[in-house]
Amino acid sequence: MTKRPIVVVGSINMDLVVRAARIPAAGETRLGSGFAMHAGGKGANQAVAVARLGWPVEMVGMLGGVSGNPDAMGAALHAHLASEGVGMGGVGIAEAATGVALITVADGGENTIVVAQGANAMLTPERVEAEAARLRGAGMVLAQLEIPLETVLRVAEICAEARVPLMLDPAPARALPEPLFPLVTWMTPNETEAAFYAGLGRDGALHDSAPRGCALRDTALLDAGAIAATLQGRGVAGVVVKLGERGAFLADGEGYAARVEPFAAEAVDTTAAGDAFNAAFAVGLLEGHSAMEAARFAAAAAAVSVTRAGAQESMATRDEVMRRMAAG
Ligand SMILES: Nc1ncnc2c1ncn2[C@@H]1O[C@H](COP(=O)(O)OP(=O)(O)OP(=O)(O)O)[C@@H](O)[C@H]1O
Ligand SMILES: [Mg+2]
Repeated sequence: MTKRPIVVVGSINMDLVVRAARIPAAGETRLGSGFAMHAGGKGANQAVAVARLGWPVEMVGMLGGVSGNPDAMGAALHAHLASEGVGMGGVGIAEAATGVALITVADGGENTIVVAQGANAMLTPERVEAEAARLRGAGMVLAQLEIPLETVLRVAEICAEARVPLMLDPAPARALPEPLFPLVTWMTPNETEAAFYAGLGRDGALHDSAPRGCALRDTALLDAGAIAATLQGRGVAGVVVKLGERGAFLADGEGYAARVEPFAAEAVDTTAAGDAFNAAFAVGLLEGHSAMEAARFAAAAAAVSVTRAGAQESMATRDEVMRRMAAG
């Protein structure tokens, strides 16, 4: 089987995490404890997840630096992603800071997060234009919404012209240009995002029935099937609504719709479960499995990932996914 690579167009961040007894008030300085750096960004998370499953993967994204030389965070992330087996030929250096997320975690578990997207904001349509050959050679392209929307739209146009399937993880939820929807092969909102997109009409206005940011479980008016149908009505081919520990809901482009049962897991940290799911779903589809089989594979990969802390560190290898599936 010739394996056309998965190309991920998306964010690359360094998460800087400190712990404190409580979240400081404005103007307050507190002594915290512990500091950790974790490679993050939804794009990079999905790329590492694909690599661990043994499928070739290339990243298109931006790190920060000066005169083509990466800054300290950028150099660290470049080395890390390369060591995971992610192809870095499509990653450029912008005259900006590498994207960082400053995270404070309080002892009670609450957190505050400030994301300085830095170089990720400089992943422009022109940049992906320069990487068009890489996109056209892909077996599938994965994108998320931590980069400029006009770039996502240009990626979608290039994919559609070249008949390369596009899987869009519409996270974080943002109002999308209407021409984007018909160019998406698979759209994979989680329940909060699903409610957001289902609540936006063709006019871009928010409908009364879906308060911004509401979760599916909060309202009987919204269910996964109806949300998938709404997105498909706007032109998306296939939809997977990710429902956390309740699994997922799959609606393919051919009228098939079904619940994807979750694999039971002792969840330690669900960060990036959705990224694990998307990566494995893409790999399963490219291996020639049906959408439902690929979604089962994805649910197993995500279930493994939630048993470990962190984002990229938690991603499952192919062997681990196969063992999880065999265990049922
Ligand atoms: N506690 C859990 N036990 C088993 N499987 C889980 C659990 N949480 C998540 N999953 C699996 O992971 C998938 C994605 O999870 P979720 O719906 O939370 O995505 P998400 O909100 O996009 O995550 P993130 O944005 O943090 O990456 C689910 O569809 C499910 O298959
Ligand atoms: Mg998600």
